[in-house]
Amino acid sequence: MCGIIGYIGPKSVVPVILDGLKRLEYRGYDSAGIAVVDRGEIRVRRVKGKVKDLEDSLREEPLQGTYGLGHTRWATHGRPSEENAHPHKDCSGRLVIVHNGIIENYLALKQKLRAEGHTFKTETDTEVIVHLLEKYYRGSLEEAMRAAIGEIEGAFAVAALAADEPDRIVAAKQGPPIVVGLGDGEFLISSDINAILAHTPNVVFLEDGEMAILDRSGARFTDFHGVPKAKTVERVSWSPLMMEKRGFKHFMLKEIFEQPEVVRDTLLGRMSLDTGRVMLDEIGIPEATLRRVRKAVIIACGTSYHAGLVGKYLMESLAGIPVDVEYASEFRYRDFILDPDTLVIVVSQSGETADTLAALRAAKDRCAAVLAVTNARSSSIAREAYGVLYTNAGPEIGVAATKTFTAQMTALALIALYLAQVQERMDHAALLEFIQEFQRIPYKMEKILGRAKAVEDLAARFVSFSHFLFLGRWVNFPVALEGALKLKEISYIHAEAYPGGEMKHGPIALIDEKMPTLAIVPEDRVYDKMLSNISEIKARNGYVIAVASDDDARIRERVDAVIAVPAAPPLLMPFLTAVPLQLFAYYIAAKRGADVDQPRNLAKSVTVE
Ligand code: M6R
Repeated sequence: MCGIIGYIGPKSVVPVILDGLKRLEYRGYDSAGIAVVDRGEIRVRRVKGKVKDLEDSLREEPLQGTYGLGHTRWATHGRPSEENAHPHKDCSGRLVIVHNGIIENYLALKQKLRAEGHTFKTETDTEVIVHLLEKYYRGSLEEAMRAAIGEIEGAFAVAALAADEPDRIVAAKQGPPIVVGLGDGEFLISSDINAILAHTPNVVFLEDGEMAILDRSGARFTDFHGVPKAKTVERVSWSPLMMEKRGFKHFMLKEIFEQPEVVRDTLLGRMSLDTGRVMLDEIGIPEATLRRVRKAVIIACGTSYHAGLVGKYLMESLAGIPVDVEYASEFRYRDFILDPDTLVIVVSQSGETADTLAALRAAKDRCAAVLAVTNARSSSIAREAYGVLYTNAGPEIGVAATKTFTAQMTALALIALYLAQVQERMDHAALLEFIQEFQRIPYKMEKILGRAKAVEDLAARFVSFSHFLFLGRWVNFPVALEGALKLKEISYIHAEAYPGGEMKHGPIALIDEKMPTLAIVPEDRVYDKMLSNISEIKARNGYVIAVASDDDARIRERVDAVIAVPAAPPLLMPFLTAVPLQLFAYYIAAKRGADVDQPRNLAKSVTVE
């Protein structure tokens, strides 16, 4: 949670930091602040609210400088307020910091520092860091930082400035990400490459236990003991244009529309129509290990968990391997059992979700084969897993995940096919046929997106409803869960998802004319059962919208409205049924005037536990 940015270079620092903060705002947006050094004095401006409010304040009373720090906050300790917004100063006002993470021993440190004479002005855990810096500062910010972080327990990405040490930014990482941008005479630190790319594609990712020291001549790196570290400079291939809305009203809508391309990009070079084979040597887990796999455990949170559930159905059906799907936040605290033939797959768009990272570490401790599916190159999860399969979704800015969900399903389907191939569970003809059908999915998605107006018109009729039910069965049950999550997240409407067959065991009591149902009903092995579940709802005056196949005539007589999607092999239907549910949630939220890209209380990357 929270985004941090720092800049040192020839440009006026305020516009650079404001631009960076806007790009980082998806990480948290309850307050924002900036610190710049101007003629030997640290000047801080903070506001409760969004970066836009900070920008307004800076327009009224500008700050000047060519280096500084910025922060956009997602509150953990201390309510959102100007006072609790970062940057935070020490007692003297000569040191300032921004922080992302949680300091677990802050209460003990606060007591100790208070007893030593420090005055605290905020409710945050962060403020202890700047007072520790003050305590240890003897003219070297780098040394003071080293001493301060030696006393801290918890997770931190922290960056600091000292008024008495001009032209220097010091940053340290233990947990949340820090990436350093190496431009032409200008240098940046940020929580995410997207705030750096407008300035340079050349970046260095800090590892846990590392510090970066930036000045006007460049950046150097050390560990927490001061030992210099040689770091690899990576060139990022994402273009700054990918970070723009490109004519769409919201990033979320743009990202929904990018999904055909995302499926193509995630499949690219990983399966061949000519040979009928899946090529996943890149994942870094030897084929021999995969041949021995007898069980898989997929671990994730939120939308990634739902993609994992789809992966379970695919893996069980295609590769004949039993799969458990676990919430990372639960799995990590369980006395779980992993035998040597279990493949653990952690799924995380950001690659930084704290619970998923902790679950990965716990799984590694038990020596399982651990594979990550992530969209973030060089993220903690990508680095720490034994192998990685990247989803090539490009940057996702909308807080509600859409295209990365589709990309994760694509990656998990590839893993399922690869396991089936290496374990010889699918014959060549069946594999080739599946590959052919998979290649057709992006075109079918394009068809659905071409009909977005029909979904928008339907959504317009439901803007004022307060409760929705989502039903699906078998491989479309996770899609129902995801459809409900999307609606909840961005429109703040209560939505629940159930497997259709569970309705009669309780939830059916909720049905009345005020609770519409979205039922996912492709013509698959549970089609007839879903029709019965729909009849039960209709018999109780429930309004039913079905997501069904184009050529399904029967469904139209049984429901109140149909969102039609092209037909595909049943196991591939989630790729198609998910899209109208994303659009439905989007249009309802947009028509309610909700902040679609930055829903209240949420943040894109959840680096707290
Ligand atoms: O980055 P991750 O995939 O690990 O994030 C997991 C969840 O926090 C994320 O999917 C969350 O549920 C999104 N808000 C969903 O739209």
